[in-house]
Amino acid sequence: MDLIELDGVEKVFDVRRRTGFMRREKRQVRAVDGISFTIPRGEMVGYIGPNGAGKSTTIKMLTGILTPSGGRLRVAGIDPARERTRLASRIGVVFGQRTTLWWDLPLKDSYRLMHRMYRIPDARFAANMERCVELLDLAELLDVPVRQLSLGQRMRGDIAAALLHDPEVLYLDEPTIGLDVVSKSKVRQFLRDLNAELGTTVLLTTHDLTDIEQLCKRVMVIDHGRLMYDGALAGLHEVGESERMLVVDLEQELPPVETDLARVVKVEGPRQWLAFPASVSAAPLVAQLAASYPLLDLSVREPDIEAVIAKMYAGGADGAQGARLV
Ligand SMILES: Nc1ncnc2c1ncn2[C@@H]1O[C@H](COP(=O)(O)OP(=O)(O)OP(=O)(O)O)[C@@H](O)[C@H]1O
Ligand SMILES: [Mg+2]
Repeated sequence: MDLIELDGVEKVFDVRRRTGFMRREKRQVRAVDGISFTIPRGEMVGYIGPNGAGKSTTIKMLTGILTPSGGRLRVAGIDPARERTRLASRIGVVFGQRTTLWWDLPLKDSYRLMHRMYRIPDARFAANMERCVELLDLAELLDVPVRQLSLGQRMRGDIAAALLHDPEVLYLDEPTIGLDVVSKSKVRQFLRDLNAELGTTVLLTTHDLTDIEQLCKRVMVIDHGRLMYDGALAGLHEVGESERMLVVDLEQELPPVETDLARVVKVEGPRQWLAFPASVSAAPLVAQLAASYPLLDLSVREPDIEAVIAKMYAGGADGAQGARLV
């Protein structure tokens, strides 16, 4: 069964802009412009796109904070905007830019309040606390007021807060923003375990593509409120028409090698760089070169996913029709 279902979901904001003394201009922003997708239980999906694409707006509609202007949306069979309170016990949400914790209270007091607010059974609460404290390294932080926590510590505290009531779905809106390398990898490991062991469905928004590479098999790309891509991360390479690079070390310095399967993009002494389409195998190219040239060594470099995505974002505005795959 699909846990999350969106069918033609839209969100239009009315914005008023002052254009002069007593003059205002009314304008509509289509933040989400007809999005449809489903997420089955247990999946971990990346939701990416440039600034202002509509990611946070989508997540806010999925929690019931915002009401869609059109379309149909269900989470665990519930219409979030109509039954926000009932949905609250089934979902957890972390906004990396904001905290849901009580600023002046020690971390553990925030958790106590949530224990009561969500009416979490005592045994459940104790077990979840133990798990989060251990896996998110919170033991030393429980007595510290939230305002004194570093960003990474606070984020780990927020993730625990979102999970104390055993939600089936966890929405994460930029959970690794501003974290150092060690904290990022701790958070990622925790999310991987959560998904693998408890089967929690995760929808993750991030600008750090390493998050996606390490956590999500499926990725959705949104731009100008529209879904541009929904599929395997690897498939993005083909969309971006990107290339892989074969680096060959010849026995001696030679002019650029001749082949119809690749383009020589760089020559440096006996080393040459050959670009070929990311979607095809390197084997025929290697065989062709080996038959005609004295090879010492070779390696294949994967395309930089950052470059692929950047290209896709850049083409988004006008090339939308062409690039759109869903
Ligand atoms: N409450 C609001 N009122 C008016 N416009 C809004 C409101 N919230 C968002 N928008 C607009 O909707 C669009 C989408 O915003 P959203 O926050 O969903 O983007 P995002 O994909 O999360 O971007 P980012 O990567 O910067 O977080 C933007 O143009 C934004 O200005
Ligand atoms: Mg956002």
